[in-house]
Amino acid sequence: MPPALPQDVPPEAAYARHIADRYDDWFAAAGATDATVGFLVSLAAEAPPGPLLELGIGAGRVALPLARHGLAVHGVDSSPQLVAQLRAEPGGRDIPVTIGDFAAPPTADESGGYAIVYVANGTFGELTTQAGQLACFANAARRLRPGGLFVLDAHLPEALATVPSGTRPVDTSGLDFVLRTRTVHPAQQRYVSDYVVLDDDRLRHVRITFRYASPGELDLMAAAAGLRLRHRAGGWSGARLKDTSSYHVSVYERPV
Ligand SMILES: C[S@@+](CC[C@H](N)C(=O)[O-])C[C@H]1O[C@@H](n2cnc3c(N)ncnc32)[C@H](O)[C@@H]1O
Repeated sequence: MPPALPQDVPPEAAYARHIADRYDDWFAAAGATDATVGFLVSLAAEAPPGPLLELGIGAGRVALPLARHGLAVHGVDSSPQLVAQLRAEPGGRDIPVTIGDFAAPPTADESGGYAIVYVANGTFGELTTQAGQLACFANAARRLRPGGLFVLDAHLPEALATVPSGTRPVDTSGLDFVLRTRTVHPAQQRYVSDYVVLDDDRLRHVRITFRYASPGELDLMAAAAGLRLRHRAGGWSGARLKDTSSYHVSVYERPV
């Protein structure tokens, strides 16, 4: 029997249960990790001193290289299996991780709180209600030290709605055969990613539901949490946000 989890841990996402060992092969677009790490390393140089906290740290795709850059990184995730993957990696045991809900992330051990709280790879949208997203902003803001930064990436809703995602094979480094299709539900402000996975002659279906929010709605949630927008880029490369951008990276600041 697995150990009982505290009651406030949301159910582990189905994809985490089923594909923990393959996660990084499927979800780490080529080059995206280096760009994300580079962006956060540069930002840490401008932020107050202190640890970083990753919401939905998963198997440590971003956190492990950040730690190798000498940054103190903590994490929170609802998936014991993905966190076990992280702990199996070199350096993984040195990253403190709380199993819990990232809408209510843990307090930093260090007095003063976190320098940066960040959430990457569309993970913020896995909070599928506005109340959950508002709570996440409010709680992240409370965990930041003055001058600290809350960073998230998110799709631009217009790009989600207008650019047909089609059904495409996921680049899995040849390990499995995976097809992904995305369906947008504007009436619910949600989109659904469906994965069909063929591995070891088994066929599986994994579904992930996301809530999308416009930059304006995110800014309002931030304002309600006492944060203000410091910078919005057109991606983790730091490129300028343009009409043709498909997603943005927004950096919010807790005023000193
Ligand atoms: C798309 S993965 C991203 C993992 C990692 N941040 C990365 O970029 O590779 C989303 C992660 O968030 C976790 N997660 C989803 N909803 C959560 C919640 N409400 N509380 C805590 N973790 C959650 C999942 O278990 C998973 O590890």
